Amino acid sequence: MEKVIDEKKQGTKLVMDTVAGNTKKLFIESYGCQMNFSDSEIVASILSENGYNTTNQLEEADLVLVNTCSIRDKAEQTVRKRLEKYNAVKKTINPSMKVGVLGCMAERLKNKFLEEEKIVDLVVGPDAYKDLPNLLSEVEEGRNAINVILSKEETYGDISPVRLQSNGVTAFVSITRGCDNMCTFCVVPFTRGRERSRDPQSILEEVNDLAAKGFKEITLLGQNVDSYLWYGGGLKKDFDKASEMQKATATNFAGLLSLVAEAQPKMRIRFSTSNPQDMTMDVIETMARYQNICNYIHLPVQSGSTRVLKEMNRQHTREEYIQLIDNIKSIIPDCGISQDIIAGFPTETEEDHQDTLSLMDYVKYDFGFMFMYSERPGTLAARKLEDDIPEAIKKRRLQEIVEIQQKHSAYRTQQFVGKTMEVLIEKTSKRDDNQWSGRIPQNTVVVFPKENYKVGDFVMVKITDCTSATLMGEAVGYSKE
Ligand code: SAH
Ligand code: F3S
Repeated sequence: MEKVIDEKKQGTKLVMDTVAGNTKKLFIESYGCQMNFSDSEIVASILSENGYNTTNQLEEADLVLVNTCSIRDKAEQTVRKRLEKYNAVKKTINPSMKVGVLGCMAERLKNKFLEEEKIVDLVVGPDAYKDLPNLLSEVEEGRNAINVILSKEETYGDISPVRLQSNGVTAFVSITRGCDNMCTFCVVPFTRGRERSRDPQSILEEVNDLAAKGFKEITLLGQNVDSYLWYGGGLKKDFDKASEMQKATATNFAGLLSLVAEAQPKMRIRFSTSNPQDMTMDVIETMARYQNICNYIHLPVQSGSTRVLKEMNRQHTREEYIQLIDNIKSIIPDCGISQDIIAGFPTETEEDHQDTLSLMDYVKYDFGFMFMYSERPGTLAARKLEDDIPEAIKKRRLQEIVEIQQKHSAYRTQQFVGKTMEVLIEKTSKRDDNQWSGRIPQNTVVVFPKENYKVGDFVMVKITDCTSATLMGEAVGYSKE
């Protein structure tokens, strides 16, 4: 069978060119985290083997799939609006169209979509995509279909994802699925199940394959990558029951990083997300040892108050987090660091909020992702704590956090002005067709005149100016072949 040739992303719709012989049309959209986008590539790969080509025209689709996010109420509302839109098209233009919900909302709401709401034909949880061909035959025979069973094994290690949203330069490679941390605000452990790691050999195969196809940068993906542990398969929580032999030959995250960095020394290696409680000195030292592991860590803190961290069931204090930042900066002085912070978690006082602001002042993050607390049904926080911070206060605190972050981002980008940094070119700048856009190892975006360089080149760029989010500069030559 002819394989995918040119792949492109259009908005959040994922499109690839046609596979010869396929007659059915799939419209697939993704919301939420990078893992969802990565999973949609797996889904498209499975369905391309089963007669489907992707389309970006909703109206002509035989099958519409939406890969959904439950992390905050707003994310679910966005998906609901899309479902209304699909149903309007179904009623007016395309009555034979089938609609399926994938991902975290499928897992969280299960049968509700089919029984109470009657708005979809198919509900498939994040571990059940291999069952899609079976589920679709049921749908074609006129029955609704559902599979929301969560798995104990890494689920898709043997499927080679089609790179739907690809620039041909950067790609995501998933290394763990699920999460065992049970942060009290978070719905992920319920929607994505228990934590399990993927066989390092299968990870290496995917990375080598990407390198052979010309990709220059990979991001190892997991809810909590530092907790990666391969001991021959099975859940992380069952590691204690493993044999002595399995324990002695297990691979942890630092081990996996070295394997990947050594396998492809010319590729940039990134990873996301790190949980402070699991990030070891070993990982930091491994980052320092390999030049091709990018000096950048996304290190969500959620709150700067030890009391709130405890309520959130984060397994570290403010002081331990600061110690970790100090360790990172002493071993990798130029390491870029970013944050996730939640404003207005239940019981958060003005003093707790000030602790968050002062922690930010200490770290001076390069950038961050900041959210108002959104109560999620079924989580420990929803069951045990009243959502007691008024909306107006949540908003004001979030605004203060965002403002401080903007100040710090501007401070960080300013530090690069005058320096010459390595940039991997990813695409044409959104604002100017004559400029390239790429990133430095610390993950900050750089734009600079195209000259004769091309997408995928590693270029040394002299930084001449900046905003709080973007560096501007001029290329001074190639960095490596
Ligand atoms: N470990 C995960 C975290 C997933 S959720 C990862 O790989 O990124 C991403 C971020 O969403 C969290 O770090 C947290 O800051 C935010 N978040 C999660 N649940 C939330 C909630 N109920 N309300 C507001 N923000 C939330
Ligand atoms: Fe959620 Fe905490 Fe895991 S934020 S994904 S439960 S590390």
